[in-house]
Amino acid sequence: MDNRPIGFFDSGLGGLTSIPHMIKTLPNERIIFFGDTARTPYGSKSPGTIKLFAEQIGDFLVSEGVKMIVIACNTVSATALDTLRAKFPDIPVIGVISPTARVVANTCTPNDKVGIMATKVTVASGAYEKKIYEKNPYINTASIPCPALVPLIEEGIIDNEIMDLTLKYYLDDFIKKEMIDTLVLGCTHYPLIADNLRRLYPNIKIISSSKEVVEAIRIELEKTDAFASGSAEENKFFASDLSENFVKMIEKILGEDKASLNINFKNLDI
Ligand code: DGL
Repeated sequence: MDNRPIGFFDSGLGGLTSIPHMIKTLPNERIIFFGDTARTPYGSKSPGTIKLFAEQIGDFLVSEGVKMIVIACNTVSATALDTLRAKFPDIPVIGVISPTARVVANTCTPNDKVGIMATKVTVASGAYEKKIYEKNPYINTASIPCPALVPLIEEGIIDNEIMDLTLKYYLDDFIKKEMIDTLVLGCTHYPLIADNLRRLYPNIKIISSSKEVVEAIRIELEKTDAFASGSAEENKFFASDLSENFVKMIEKILGEDKASLNINFKNLDI
């Protein structure tokens, strides 16, 4: 048993989309979340910068006494997973790509065509294709970078025509040409636009990295006998810029009023 919290982080608010799945599946676990809202998006930055940011955030989470680090960001998982594992050898570091690739490998067939939508960095890394191939070499995939989506989501531009047009701009031709029947949300911001995607492409199956990572966390806790017994302490949310939209999105994603959420500012600038 281990009652220390689990540390989650993302470039911004995207990683928050894992938290409702966590609370539902592992309700005894306490969460510390950090969103680097001052420096988002990471998805078009260089790998060196992303690694540096990831190490800073890892230091902060470790200083908060976490028992595990969850990289709730595909972009960081694609670039800095090994860096963080080497820097923090005493605690498990879990990324979102491998657990999601496992679900693709186990649930899709060679007749499917799996489209991976993600940031530029994630697509350029080829991390999804590599992991899916390792787990099942018979799955057909194609990837598409969608760099304008994260800034729009961070701005809360979701339930409107601009988001729909942007999605169509990236996906209409891609889905048609590649004959995609399954879409992987290879960015933890994208569950926030899952309703748009379902409305625009109703016949396409959606696999979300934000959801699938929770099973990997459960397996890791089981392996190390580190489940929490339930704690009186509340979950804590940190952001490097406490914008109005960040607070609004936390309320929207977690379905709770900000007064009942422990939301804090934390500056990590170098
Ligand atoms: N949520 C991050 C991801 O999963 C977004 C990256 C970004 O900041 O561009 O990739």
